[in-house]
Amino acid sequence: MPTSTDFSGFHTRSVHAGARPDPHTGSRAMPIHQTTSFVFEDSEAAAAYFNLQEYGNTYSRIMNPTVAALEERIANLEGAVGGVGFASGLAAQSSALFTLLQPGDHVLASAALYGGTVTQFKHLLRKLSVELDFVASNRLQDWQAGIKANTKLFFGETIGNPSGSILDIAGLAELAHAHDIPLMIDNTFATPYLCRPLEWGADIVVHSATKFLGGHGTSIGGLVVESGEFDWSNGRFPLMEDPSPAYHGLKFHETFGTFAYLMKLRAETLRDLGGCMSPFNAFLIAQGIETLPLRMRQHVHNARAVAAYLQGAGGVTQVHYAGLDSHPDHSLAQRYLPAGAGAVFCFDLAGGRDAGITLIENLQLFSHLANVGDAKSLVIHPATTTHRQLSDAELAAAGIGPGTIRISVGIEDAEDLIADLDQALSQIPGATS
Ligand SMILES: Cc1ncc(COP(=O)(O)O)c(C=O)c1O
Repeated sequence: MPTSTDFSGFHTRSVHAGARPDPHTGSRAMPIHQTTSFVFEDSEAAAAYFNLQEYGNTYSRIMNPTVAALEERIANLEGAVGGVGFASGLAAQSSALFTLLQPGDHVLASAALYGGTVTQFKHLLRKLSVELDFVASNRLQDWQAGIKANTKLFFGETIGNPSGSILDIAGLAELAHAHDIPLMIDNTFATPYLCRPLEWGADIVVHSATKFLGGHGTSIGGLVVESGEFDWSNGRFPLMEDPSPAYHGLKFHETFGTFAYLMKLRAETLRDLGGCMSPFNAFLIAQGIETLPLRMRQHVHNARAVAAYLQGAGGVTQVHYAGLDSHPDHSLAQRYLPAGAGAVFCFDLAGGRDAGITLIENLQLFSHLANVGDAKSLVIHPATTTHRQLSDAELAAAGIGPGTIRISVGIEDAEDLIADLDQALSQIPGATS
């Protein structure tokens, strides 16, 4: 009998990877293991788990079978050696960073990032004495110019939130690796259905599972997966090679090889920072992933139709959707996202802030809220909400103006979405729809 991971099709793996009928009850749906802790077979087994000599369930802050099923599913879809679940996308990111960085290190990150990530990086990393520079362009020579002797990480989003810019993942991976630097990608907006960064040379992928993976706006969650291919023993990551005082002198790279980073992420960072995913959210996100390919096809179909409509709509000055050939990153989108440039993008209104408020207040089908990647269509004004902590210069670097509107195109009928946008745009004084 083949196991779920023996199948190669993306749709099949979305439904089956990580999950099997429950051997004890026969339950076909993934059981929700709503328990804090697990009874040990005996004292010897308990000691082996705590020594990391055996891999097994002890306490749900560190590991839980329902969360593990989701971790296996996302790792399978991303082509990773494994994954770790977290309470949110930002918990996943901060934990992914903490595991490899130490004071005095330097991070080089794309400027086209989710506002919460910019804030997390700018303030949290600096508080920990980690240096940070943003690169406001996709040109590899600009990234190269930013590399310092202490640079320990490149970071970017496959599709930038909300600018819609596309990262040159293969180019950045090659540049990073030439300097013994790992590349970490936030693949939230693309999902593994549209792009698998590890296949282009990235080393670590992080997700806000809150968005398209869960897909229904019900659960906050985050995930980290790793290729297992980065050489953590290159002499630049002592945390991975030296005896760990937080784990009675364990040398993670020597002991776990390919799994060193993920083991350290789970056994130390998740254990100590504690931002674990709840079993119930893992269940909902894993169930969401069962329909990920179907939803992403409809999201992309609708996003293309809505972007094409907006391009010719009165009062709209620019549409920042990399699926349009007018977008500066269109050729990168064709390379990295051949099935579609996602379903979250921005457009600018000639009437600025007031026009933005009029549009948002008159939309009926689009919900005004701070989320993306829901089956339902969503809209927000980034300058006054998600990105309001950013200075004007940072806003400009992230591609956001006063009249910029971000939409997350859902899976309704495209005709209904266009009709809703059309009636709301026509309410803006001076705009002819
Ligand atoms: C691209 C991206 N990454 C990370 C996050 C953070 O995810 P979470 O809200 O699950 O912490 C978000 C949230 O909007 C996001 O859009």
